[in-house]
Amino acid sequence: MIHIQRVGVLGAGLMGSGIAQVAASCGFDTVVRDVSDGALTRGRAAVERSLAKFVEKGQLLPDARDAALRRLLWTTDLGAVATTDIVIEAVTEELALKTALYRELHPQCAEGAIFASNTSSLGIVTLAAASGRPDRFVGLHFFNPVPLMPLVEVVRAVTTSEATFTRALSFARSLGKDAVAVRDGSGFIVNRLLVPYLLDAVRALEQGVGTVADIDRAMMLGCGYPMGPFTLLDFVGLDTTVRIGEIMFDEFREPRFAPPALLRQMVAAGWLGRKSGRGFYDYSVTPPMVAL
Ligand code: 3HC
Repeated sequence: MIHIQRVGVLGAGLMGSGIAQVAASCGFDTVVRDVSDGALTRGRAAVERSLAKFVEKGQLLPDARDAALRRLLWTTDLGAVATTDIVIEAVTEELALKTALYRELHPQCAEGAIFASNTSSLGIVTLAAASGRPDRFVGLHFFNPVPLMPLVEVVRAVTTSEATFTRALSFARSLGKDAVAVRDGSGFIVNRLLVPYLLDAVRALEQGVGTVADIDRAMMLGCGYPMGPFTLLDFVGLDTTVRIGEIMFDEFREPRFAPPALLRQMVAAGWLGRKSGRGFYDYSVTPPMVAL
């Protein structure tokens, strides 16, 4: 059995760059692959900003930051990922895109390498079956912002071997994360509970139960949540939430997973949350103001 030393990450977006940062900070040589130099530059800048915050707060020494940055290789070459011991895919939530990547990588990777997906809503078994190595496939679901959120859901598909699952669980722990074991099923534990809650907040707004600011404040002060649902929706991305809701609705056929009209309209308008500068809040001003 290969000891995990080198980590591959597919996708340099919010999640991919966060996962790569954590892996490199924990001593793993890490290869991050994306399709464009622009995406890689943005990912690297996000990692540099995040590491700088830890240094500023005295939680990381400048030498350790430099060592983590040296362990990161940013590339558009998929072949560079083939030499890693675990490949964590964090690309857009599109089945065809993910399966095409696994198909291309499978023949190039070592027999013992594990494939993992950070999907938040697609079934792990579907990806595993398409990957060419269904027994060496597992879900590793991280949370945003990855460097700060302590949880990883380690998801076992029906095809995942015991050895793969155990290795993935101990790998997640070696990243300093708290790992929970989850059986495959759209949304796993967190999104199964979180997504209907977020969508219900939008429905409550549509029905005039409260304003954006009041619903956010109510959930923070009444439940002790660190962010209200609209701040969290903007943080996760409205397009991402709609996509996850649609996938979960397809899976369960339950109205609570169906994205409400207002959310779809906002996505159609290009109001995607923090990343587009506007969602339920307007981020062009400090502090952000309610935009709806
Ligand atoms: N790297 C390093 N440090 C960071 C950082 C990052 N990426 N992001 C924020 N920080 C630091 C800030 O500098 C700040 O430091 P300070 O206390 O010294 O000033 C500290 O973290 C707190 O940040 P903020 O003051 O900006 O904001 P908060 O106090 O609200 O904390 C938070 C930020 C940890 C994100 C907190 O609000 C939180 O836990 N929110 C909930 C997040 C959540 O629910 N995530 C899960 C989303 S669902 C998901 O990911 C699943 C997917 O499938 C949809």
